[in-house]
Order: sequence, then C-alpha cells, then structure tokens
Amino acid sequence: MSDVTDDAAARIAQLRDQIVRHNDLYFRANKPDITDAQFDSLVVELQTLEAENPELAAASSPTQTVGAPASFAPVAHEVPMMSLDKAFSTDEFDQWHLRLGRALGEGRAAGAFACELKFDGLAISVRYEKGKLVRAATRGNGQVGEDVTANVLGIRDVPQELVGAPEVLEVRGEVYLEISEFNRLNERLSEKGESRYANPRNTAAGSLRLKDPVASAARNLRWFSYQLGDVVGGPAFTRHSETFEFLADLGFPVNDQVQVVDTAEEVKAFFAKAESNRHLFDYEIDGAVAKVDSLVLQRDLGVTSHHPRWAIAFKFAPEEQPTKLLDIHVSIGGKGKATPFAVLEPVLVAGSTVQMATLHNQDQVAYKDVRPGDTVLVRKAGDVIPEVLGPVLSERPKGLAPWEFPSHCSCGLNFPLTRNDGDAAHYCLNTVCPLQRDAWIEHFAARAAMDIEGFGERTVRLFTEHDLLSDIAGIYELDFEKVRRIEGFGETSVTNLQASIEASKTRGLGPLLIGLNIRHLGDTGAHVLARAFGHLDRILDATVDEVAAVDGFGATIAQSVHAYFADPANRAIVERLRAAEVSFEGPEVVQVAPTLEGRTVVVSGTLAGFSRDGAKDAIVSRGGKSPGTVSKKTLALVLGDSPGASKITKAEELGVPIIDEATFVLLLESGEL
Ligand code: IVH
Repeated sequence: MSDVTDDAAARIAQLRDQIVRHNDLYFRANKPDITDAQFDSLVVELQTLEAENPELAAASSPTQTVGAPASFAPVAHEVPMMSLDKAFSTDEFDQWHLRLGRALGEGRAAGAFACELKFDGLAISVRYEKGKLVRAATRGNGQVGEDVTANVLGIRDVPQELVGAPEVLEVRGEVYLEISEFNRLNERLSEKGESRYANPRNTAAGSLRLKDPVASAARNLRWFSYQLGDVVGGPAFTRHSETFEFLADLGFPVNDQVQVVDTAEEVKAFFAKAESNRHLFDYEIDGAVAKVDSLVLQRDLGVTSHHPRWAIAFKFAPEEQPTKLLDIHVSIGGKGKATPFAVLEPVLVAGSTVQMATLHNQDQVAYKDVRPGDTVLVRKAGDVIPEVLGPVLSERPKGLAPWEFPSHCSCGLNFPLTRNDGDAAHYCLNTVCPLQRDAWIEHFAARAAMDIEGFGERTVRLFTEHDLLSDIAGIYELDFEKVRRIEGFGETSVTNLQASIEASKTRGLGPLLIGLNIRHLGDTGAHVLARAFGHLDRILDATVDEVAAVDGFGATIAQSVHAYFADPANRAIVERLRAAEVSFEGPEVVQVAPTLEGRTVVVSGTLAGFSRDGAKDAIVSRGGKSPGTVSKKTLALVLGDSPGASKITKAEELGVPIIDEATFVLLLESGEL
C-alpha cells in the first residue's frame, strides 16, 4: 500500500469511529455533542475518501448504514428462524415431554431445561461480522426476512460493535416496546386528539417498519437477545445456558428471569410463576419457553419443518379482567345497522386498555344478560377484539333492570329502529340519518376501502357539521376555500388532504366496492366481485343471475348488489364519482398456478406476512378452499400466532398436518407438503 492510501485508510478508520460514536450519542443517548452541520461534514469527508479509494469501501461503513432509510429488502437467513411448538396446558406440556423421552430413546433423558419468558414482540436476527453490526432482519417467513438495519441501529439495546466477538455472529432476539413507553405514546396521541395504538406489540412492529430511522429511533424500542443463529469461529458451547453468559459478556441484553432447572415439574413451576407474575414486568409476555439445555441433545432431537423438537412454548390462557359496565350505547353504521356496544370503565387486559366492546345485537345482550351497572368480565386474547364474557352475578346491585334496545335512532330525527324477522340486527331506515351518513363517509375513507389519510371520524364530523360534505361523492367535490376557513385547518393539512384524496382515485374497483357500502358484501366479496367483473360499468349492467354466478356468491349477496345499483340515489353517487375521475377499473388479473386445485387448507391465528383475508385469497386464487373448520378433508392446518385451540385438537385427532407460515408459503408455491 502506498503512503497516500495508508493515510487514507487511517483517516477513514478514524472518521468511521467518530461517525458511529456521534450517531450513537444522537440516536441512543439523545445527547449530541456536535452540531448537525459538523456531523454532516464528517460524513461528506468519509464519502469522498471512500469514493476516491474504492478498495477501502466496506458494507459496514456508516456511509452505508447511518441515516439511510431501512430498505426492507429481502434477506435470506443463513440459519432459518423457526417458530416454537406450543402447549396450551400443562397436559400438552407433559405430552411433549413424553415425546421428547421417546425421541431420545431408552436410557436417555432430556436432562436440564433452560426456562425463559416468551416475549410478545417481534423476532429479529442481528448479524455481526468481525465485531461490527452489518445487518438486522425480521423473521419474515422464517427463510427470508426483511432488512431493517437502519431502524435497528436506533435501538439502544442492540450493540453496534463487539469486542472479542467471533468472526461471524448472528444473535436472535425480540424487539418490544415497554408498556410504560406505550402508555406515554398513547397519552401524547390522546392529547393531540388522535386515535390510540392498540397494543405494544403492533406498535413495536409499526415502529420497526417506519421509513424514517430518526422517527423509528424516537420510539425507544427495546430488545432482548435469546438465541444464537449463524456463528463462525466462535467458542464451542455445550449448553444453551452458556450462550447467555457469552451474550451478556459481549454486551447483549439478556432477560433476568432466565432459569435452568432439572425436571419437568420445575419447568411447570416456572410456567406457573411466569403466568402469575406476567403483569409485574414492563414488557408483555404471552407465555414461557422451555429449551433442552444440552446442545448435543438439541442436535440429536433435530427440527421438524417448522419448529425445533427441543423447545416448547407454553402459552398463557387468554386473560380476563373484571370491570364496570358503565352503559350500553348503540352505534349506527354506514348501512344503518344499529350495533349495541359496552361502555366500560377503562381496564388493562392483555397489555392494552379496553373501554369499549361490541355486544353485537339485541339477542347477544339478552343471552349474556349484561346490564349497565354490572361488574362484567372482559377477555382479550392476543390481538383479538375484546369481548364481554358476562356479568359477575355476585356483584350485581339489587334491583338492576335488564337493558332494553332503544326504540329510536339516536340521531335525534326520531326514526324508529326496526328489526326484521330472521335478522339479528336492528336498522335505522332513515335514508338521511346523519349518523349513517357520517359512518358511511368514514367507512369510504378507511384503510380497507379508499384509504384517504387524514379523513377520520373527526374530520368527517367537522366537514358535515360545517355543511361542506353530505355524502361520499362530496369528498371529491370539496370546496377547499371553505375548508381553509375551518379553525385548525392550516395550509399543510389542506395540502396533505388534497394529496390523499387525489391518491384515493386510483385505488381501483375492489376498494371502491368496499367503500360503496353494499349490504351483505364484505371486504373479501368486494375483491372477488372486482376480479370477476373488472369494471364497475359491467356490474351496473349485470343481472342478479350474473352476479350470483360469481364463485362463492349466494342469492342474498347477488340481490343486494343488484338492488344497490338499481337505486337511483346510488346511481347518482356513482355518476358523481365518475365525473371526479375515480377509477372504476378492477385489478389486473394476476395469474397464479392452481397449486391447490380442489384442496382444503385451514388457517388459524394471525400470520406475519398475510392479512386474514390475504391468506384465504392466496389459497382460493390457487384453486383451493379455506373453510373455518378442520375436517378429514383438510390438507393442512396453518398455525399463526394465537390460534384456536379447538382447531389444533381437531387436527391432531384427525391426523391433519399442522404447519407454520414458512411451510404454508412453500405449500402455496408447490402444492406439496
Ligand atoms: S427461541 C428456534 N425464545 O416466539 C427457536 N423465541 O414462536 C427460536 N419468542 O419467532 C425462537 N420469546 O418471536 C425464542 N425466549 C424466547 C422467545 C421467543 C419470544 C418468539 C419469537 C419467535 C416466536 C416463536
């Protein structure tokens, strides 16, 4: 190397160290000790030197990582990121333990277990080469995740540099948001009048997916490490528990509840203690994990296609909490449907505050016999919508009257709420009901429909109260001069709103059909209809029979769709949308191979890479069926997070293979298990 390059190499090394240090001070400690301009000039100097000396460039250089937005590019995991086998009861744990004994064979016992908490966040894998953090990726489908390096650099628990690390070290762990931090975030949102986040897990996932690493770092995400991935040139371990000491020595955060025990009884005691202590921690856990501690036995036990045989997650029972039922209100939806819901004294259930829960309809309220003034039990399992289970009768105040469904709509126009024979729901039939009008506009602008950002409940109410808007087509005819005169609507809000309204015009037929709010037509149905007809004009001209011919459509939906477009008021709205140049075209038909022709695949629980309808669509578009129950004909049961216990039991009884998301993705591709 010439002297010049030597100098350059030295300066490059110095600049890289300085930039990493200042970046750390800025992002993690929130205490920058140089100005932004000084920081930028260091980066520019480094970029220039690297450009002049390409042989000295490095993927780990801060010019490649610092400040660059997360790319979310696919990352193939060197060692797959598997999920964990689950036990929903101590019996199921005992069965697993027996299977373990059988698999190890005569005379060999599983020996010690490492017991850990099961954190309810998101798994990431962080890769270090020569002690430098080079990449962080999400789990994805277990084989391929997404590159989230830029955002992980902003998590203060994740070391960026290691001293004395192996050549290559991959560490797996859970990104989470502290409950206290989650509550602070929500308080700030409430103060601004914005809607609150649902739970810490989803908020953590959203934060890790922010495009702006500075905004992501501001969320104060945390991390626990719990498992090694790819390791090259590292020490030889004999026990999983030794890896914890190794990780802690290198500066990785290891949870302090980890415990090594010798017997299955002690594992169960750990599970029980974890469950009863779950609210003492400032992070959410949804279970506990036991891992065979001996790495030799782990290797002998091996893995199935989706989980290692040497580990099991014990999932906690869904949580129930008592709270006061303050009142029962009735909300009016965009189709006039009157839905009773419980107004609850706010209560923390499974990590998020619940203050409302749907009671579905009159019969459900009567069946549960919940009365305003009752103490009721509220349940929430994982992401599932909160549910009122029933009253605590021993605490019912004397003389508490049963609740009666209101006879009239609460819009103040004195319209009766009617319930037809054979229908569980009440409807307000007033076509000019202001509550219905607002609900419809909100629904039209919602994410699943036309996805108009900034057009939520508050904006809709503000616009309708100011007489700027009276139906969905009016969104595209808004008089922005008048909008500007509304207090709180600055130029930025107006510009943003105009842009999102404009963008919504190209959503296409599926979202538009959802937004039109056709009775009996759900979100999936709307997309199926859009695919089948390709253009709104063809649906406008279609007969009932033509609509009924769509796969999966019955007479009720077909008649409802036909009646909707036969109604002159709806036609008029359609024509105004056309005049506003809202796209009426359906999605391009994407041809996928019919790998699941005539097969049945059941999905239970939430998957990371698919929405509920998305998983179903993926099966249906490949010629398969995806009913809600497991039967003899089921090819496989796909398990996501928080699956239904009954489906698992049924699948086990019938010998139906239970597969995870990664295997599901392969199944979609190949049609084979
Ligand atoms: S170990 C091969 N340990 O659970 C085993 N996972 O269902 C790899 N999780 O994706 C995982 N706490 O997000 C492990 N102490 C823990 C865990 C844990 C939470 C999550 C992780 C993983 C999922 C598996």
